[in-house]
Amino acid sequence: VHQWRGIIEEYRDRLPVEDTTEVVTLGEGGTPLVPAQVLSERTGCEVYLKVEGANPTGSFKDRGMTMAITRAKEEGAKAVICASTGNTSASAAAYAVRARMVSAVLVPQGKIALGKMGQALVHGAKILQVEGNFDDCLTLARALADNYPVSLVNSVNPVRIEGQKTAAFEIVDALGEAPDIHVLPVGNAGNITAYWKGYREYAADGVASRTPRMWGFQASGSAPIVRGEVVKDPRTLATAIRIGNPASWQQALAAREESGGLIDEVTDRQILAAYRLLAGQEGVFVEPASAASVAGLLKAAEQGLVDPGQRIVCTVTGNGLKDPDRATEGAPRPTVIPVDAAAAAHRLGLTG
Ligand code: F0G
Repeated sequence: VHQWRGIIEEYRDRLPVEDTTEVVTLGEGGTPLVPAQVLSERTGCEVYLKVEGANPTGSFKDRGMTMAITRAKEEGAKAVICASTGNTSASAAAYAVRARMVSAVLVPQGKIALGKMGQALVHGAKILQVEGNFDDCLTLARALADNYPVSLVNSVNPVRIEGQKTAAFEIVDALGEAPDIHVLPVGNAGNITAYWKGYREYAADGVASRTPRMWGFQASGSAPIVRGEVVKDPRTLATAIRIGNPASWQQALAAREESGGLIDEVTDRQILAAYRLLAGQEGVFVEPASAASVAGLLKAAEQGLVDPGQRIVCTVTGNGLKDPDRATEGAPRPTVIPVDAAAAAHRLGLTG
């Protein structure tokens, strides 16, 4: 029986680790590539979802974190720090436990989803809620890493990108070729940078014969790359991508230019519609930010930008359980019944 060993063991020859490196892993990667029936029908394409919410802490961040924490441990670090909209902090907290290190996380006050806060708490992270947004948190985290004995595990740490590029490898390994288009949500822009690197490496080595066009989507209220300027007060219900000054801005532009791709925006309303479609019609429960990729694909299709017959992969970056408030908000409360089959059947409309 083949047991998936985590991205470092599975792709060791393509990652910056030594033979002697002691790997810190929770078995991340090897996530499902799910055919999306409704999206395929709507677009006339062959659409797949790369379900990154299936990672150990529920988001794609684990791919980068296994690398970042493995490296930090190798270098003798005793503590790691990150700025986060929630998923990076959840991942850092879990992998730090694994490595017997201390984790410190800086999050924007009141702007991280409940599940993510719960993860950081239960893994014993030192949590500071900052009176500012993600961009302020990142500025602080960099300053602390520069001046104190703590190692920065945000995606400005290049080994994070190395780990995250393995998602592109998995897609090519599964499909036997790169897709025509790859669609992603964009926040700090590390992930689009990582996928583009992965696809380019496989093409350069002849594992794939081509690279896809990279399509990235920001939330309209937090779309600095689309607008071409820093957004001072970023807004969106997709709190994971509520970022006004992405660290990998230039790399995202390079991915777009080199791939003949696109960076555009989707409204919160479009994000929510895609969130509901994924859960209600594809059976895939994601957090709101993740739905930005699918919202973007649907927007582009409406604009006539999607030629039928193409193979398209949308990364859905985080698990829906991260943000339970969003799932329950505005929904009717389930009916209460006594322990009575007839009452249940009646309420379920089974009695004709
Ligand atoms: N989707 C989710 C669920 C995320 O958590 C993030 C980023 C993104 C998309 C965007 O990815 O930043 O590489 O462009 N979350 C970071 C965090 C910022 O702190 O967890 P990106």
